[in-house]
Amino acid sequence: MIKFKSILLIVFAVIITQSCSDTSTKSDKEKFIDNLISQMTLAEKVGQMTLYSSGEDPTVPVFNPKFREEIQKGGAGAIFASISMDSIKYLQGLAMKSRLKIPMLFGYDVVHGYKTIFPIPLAETASWDMKMLEKTAAVAADEASASGINWVFAPMVDLARDARWGRVSEGAGEDPYLGGLAAKARVKGFQGSNLKNNNTVAACAKHFAAYGASISGKDYNTVDLSENYLREVYLKPYKSAKDAGVSSMMSAFNEVNGIPATANKKLLTDVLRDEWGFDGFVVSDFASIGELMNHGFAENKEQCAELSINAGLDMDMEASVYKEEIVQPLVDAKKIEISKLNNSVRRILRVKYDLGLFDDPYKYCNEDRAKNKVFTKSNLAIARDMARKSIVLLKNENQLLPLNLSKLKTIALIGPLAKNQADPMGTWIAQGDTTSVVTTYQGLKKQLPKNSKLLYTKGCDIDSDDTSDFKNAIKIAKQSDLILLALGEKGDMSGEAASKGNINLPGVQTKLLETLSKLNKPIVLILTNGRPMTLEKEVKLSNAVLETWILGTTSGDAIADVLTGKYNPSGKLPMTFPRDIGQLPIYYAFKNTGRPSNPDVRYSSRFLDIPSSPLFPFGYGLSYTTFAYSNLKIDKETLSNKDVLTATVNIKNTGDFDGEEVVQLYLRDLIGSVTRPVRELKAYEKIKIKKGETKTIRFEIIPERDLSFVRADLSTGTEDGDFTLFIGGNSDAQLAANFKLKN
Ligand code: GLC
Repeated sequence: MIKFKSILLIVFAVIITQSCSDTSTKSDKEKFIDNLISQMTLAEKVGQMTLYSSGEDPTVPVFNPKFREEIQKGGAGAIFASISMDSIKYLQGLAMKSRLKIPMLFGYDVVHGYKTIFPIPLAETASWDMKMLEKTAAVAADEASASGINWVFAPMVDLARDARWGRVSEGAGEDPYLGGLAAKARVKGFQGSNLKNNNTVAACAKHFAAYGASISGKDYNTVDLSENYLREVYLKPYKSAKDAGVSSMMSAFNEVNGIPATANKKLLTDVLRDEWGFDGFVVSDFASIGELMNHGFAENKEQCAELSINAGLDMDMEASVYKEEIVQPLVDAKKIEISKLNNSVRRILRVKYDLGLFDDPYKYCNEDRAKNKVFTKSNLAIARDMARKSIVLLKNENQLLPLNLSKLKTIALIGPLAKNQADPMGTWIAQGDTTSVVTTYQGLKKQLPKNSKLLYTKGCDIDSDDTSDFKNAIKIAKQSDLILLALGEKGDMSGEAASKGNINLPGVQTKLLETLSKLNKPIVLILTNGRPMTLEKEVKLSNAVLETWILGTTSGDAIADVLTGKYNPSGKLPMTFPRDIGQLPIYYAFKNTGRPSNPDVRYSSRFLDIPSSPLFPFGYGLSYTTFAYSNLKIDKETLSNKDVLTATVNIKNTGDFDGEEVVQLYLRDLIGSVTRPVRELKAYEKIKIKKGETKTIRFEIIPERDLSFVRADLSTGTEDGDFTLFIGGNSDAQLAANFKLKN
């Protein structure tokens, strides 16, 4: 009997230690959250799962002005678009009066800056300088957090290969490798090394998933992709954001393969949680839970709530669907397990805990920081550096640029973007102030020598058929040695709900260029636009072309820095520029097809009436100097998955200026069990080379990392066979070497 008792005692002791060790292994954070959840009513749980707009920022529509009373009852877990610290303090104060005093998140669309507005993300990506992307995100976080904001709806990481889609401006272009690096850099910039710091904010990677693949580039339109293509390309930047530790994600408006992203269990749970182990929370896009009814996916609000919560959508932005009166009956009818609600609340509370809001709900409401950290000279200097690094030199006939200021006595600056402060800011400008924007005219005026004359006229509008100022344009052009022509798009011609069926220069801008080109004066075309455009004629009529995108507050200074040679342009295109809209979607990593495109072969993959080649390829950008690539060497011609292949190449600066080059490495997998793209960017290095200097760059190819791909059965791995490696200054690189993978 004694033996039996002693065994029982031992078993009992083991159970106790086990359960103690279980609770002791739970972190303080998890214990704190468990305890809080155990006290919450269902109403308080769905309250945490509710995000309202404050209604203070005029650009963000408000659905529910009465939400203030709800906050006091614990009916809102977060507010967004609050634009004053007093308001944030007041609203947080209401939350602190609620029963459990759970602090709120304060979110905002800080997409390319808070008050100091940086170049649009597509422009920043054109710098290929990830340290700079991280730095501008960190500055944006510093300014936003100094203004009461602790959560930003950025980075937007949607890849896009169709320039008709207006939101290409907010992303990082067409390529999963470059887009993944940009996602990581921006998340690290916003979140820093510790969310508890008072100058870092929770980031939100958006819009999950594949929002940029909408059919015909029409915003909010259907996305229908093979799972293979979805995983091989479009999901990669979100995975990079997750791996970088992003605190939250925002679901996309669109459906993916028949299921709206907002209630897509396969994406929100199977991929995001089960495969990737994402432990942040997912917020819906604006009112998109309610839009499940428009999709024809839900019959009523009850079904919207049931489908979204069960799919793993944690927080409802402005659809007012996650309400007690809707969710309680669903729980009672066992259509929603309470554990689902607990999981969502847990993910939201974790971010609040990580931000330190439970220790100090007002930690982001520090008047001193607000006075000293926002719109500072050093922030503007960073913005200017980012802006000039984003500019891409597309053409420079006979080294027209940089401007030879000793010879140019009179310069004509013409165009609707020349003295324009609003449009070079673009959309999602948070608290940016357009009256603080440096125009191209102002930037040039500051840098031209005193004896240079700068004549100006608008010439035409961005988007009208008024040619009445052409005569002035001709007049000042005739008096000048050179014409600077500032053309492009309005700031709101890209961004959300800005898809276009025509991506030529709007209005009569091209007509103005054609008119001026008859004067036989050198013309520098300065483009301000938020997307690749069809510019073949304009490029032909210009002697030099600068793609300046939308550069934000310091726009004119950055443009002048490049025009005068103070900065030698180093940008490279993050998206292919088409010759014709009929080519869209167009991208460098295309498939060879069974009848590869050949203009001389009728029965090949081509158009009868337009070329297949782009106007400018992905990765393209000129410098004021020139670079010569030579001596590409690989250290082995055959390797197994256990080996590393090293490639080296020499780059010589063969021109008259010190400059920077983005040395790009592309791979082609010649045969695969699914067809493989003709090229894929796998590595790059941006380097400074002095004139006359030669540098040797070294790359490593690691098979599992660089040669793996998604197979037909959706497994990921390498396959033996032949590969070609290309290195050069854009995706058309011709310097090549072949190697074999043999395991
Ligand atoms: C918008 C956008 C999203 C933004 C949100 C809040 O509709 O799609 O990017 O963060 O609503 O403004």
